[in-house]
Amino acid sequence: MKAMQEQISIKFKELFQTEGSFFASPGRINLIGEHTDYNGGFVFPGAVDKGMIAEIKPNGTGTVRAYALDLSDYAEFGLTEEAAPEASWARYIFGVCREIIKRGGNIQGFDTVFAGDVPLGAGMSSSAALESTFAFALNELFALGIDKFELAKIGQSTEHNYCGVKCGIMDQFASVFGKAGSLIRLDCRSLEYKYYPFNPVGYKLVLVDSVVKHELASSAYNKRRQSCENVVAAIRRNHPQVEFLRDATMEMLSEVKADISAEDYMRAEYVIEEIQRVLDVCDALEHGDYETVGAKMYATHHGMSKLYEVSCEELDFLNDIAKECGVTGSRVMGGGFGGCTINLVKEELYDHFIQTAVSAYKEKYGREPKIYDVVISDGARHL
Ligand code: GLA
Repeated sequence: MKAMQEQISIKFKELFQTEGSFFASPGRINLIGEHTDYNGGFVFPGAVDKGMIAEIKPNGTGTVRAYALDLSDYAEFGLTEEAAPEASWARYIFGVCREIIKRGGNIQGFDTVFAGDVPLGAGMSSSAALESTFAFALNELFALGIDKFELAKIGQSTEHNYCGVKCGIMDQFASVFGKAGSLIRLDCRSLEYKYYPFNPVGYKLVLVDSVVKHELASSAYNKRRQSCENVVAAIRRNHPQVEFLRDATMEMLSEVKADISAEDYMRAEYVIEEIQRVLDVCDALEHGDYETVGAKMYATHHGMSKLYEVSCEELDFLNDIAKECGVTGSRVMGGGFGGCTINLVKEELYDHFIQTAVSAYKEKYGREPKIYDVVISDGARHL
């Protein structure tokens, strides 16, 4: 991180002949609770030690001048709706500015150089890290007084309105609210949350990155969300109190089976079960029962693969290897369609599992998966 900060600083001086302030925001993991956030359910994320860093300085004009160090790409754009940039990375920053302005925030142009070490398209929320970095920084630099939840929502609205992904609140929430050593259970309907110190003695959490990028997955993601909304609309005819799938039961779902598509039925079945799994995992954690935590993770993988259909061959393969190696819990993490599995592994099994996963994956797919040990870290901050 220090090295990254130094490189940013050199480039910033070269481009803008001055110095700014540094801000950082992390990517996230999620222990369990996938595709539950936009259904008003529970999620269980934590921030990681990888994220985005930006140096930023207001420039007293109406123009943003931004340099993406990792892409060696420069963009300039204004702050009005018509002044949107072309480059997709710049649209995240533009979107954050626009969402702040829509909320009445008085901001001006600024200069920035940013870089990151959270892998792109790996299901670790690099885009939320970018949004949170700028939302947090602009709030501070322009003394806007926006609260942390609203900062997360600014990132989420950026995805909806400028990047075409109808995401839930989990990623931006985790990136802003993260706390070293703790996972956070968030109720995405009431927005109540609770920190759970996470220190599974004798176990490690490790990500195995299939290096299958999920970049083109946004339309499939939005389609999943649409399925959930279709089912809610059908259930509401008999149960008007049901606002989200969170409020629905399997009985209610059976009642409408004939009125909805088989596909929508499977999607809703997965979500209803997954919301319950998050609560079960919280209970199990309170009793130090990691076997149950792991079993629920496998159940989530099965649901994501067979009912929600957001896994892929490579991720199913990695999940099978974990099972064969006796790993306690394993599942595809994040939105899916590529990216990582998250694995809860007994320490004594760790080396064997990693070696087996790397060599078997390489043999089958001709490339090595990447391995990231999970270090649960702090959220958005001024460095
Ligand atoms: C993506 C979205 C989140 C969430 C997850 C799946 O990361 O951005 O809001 O829906 O997928 O749990």
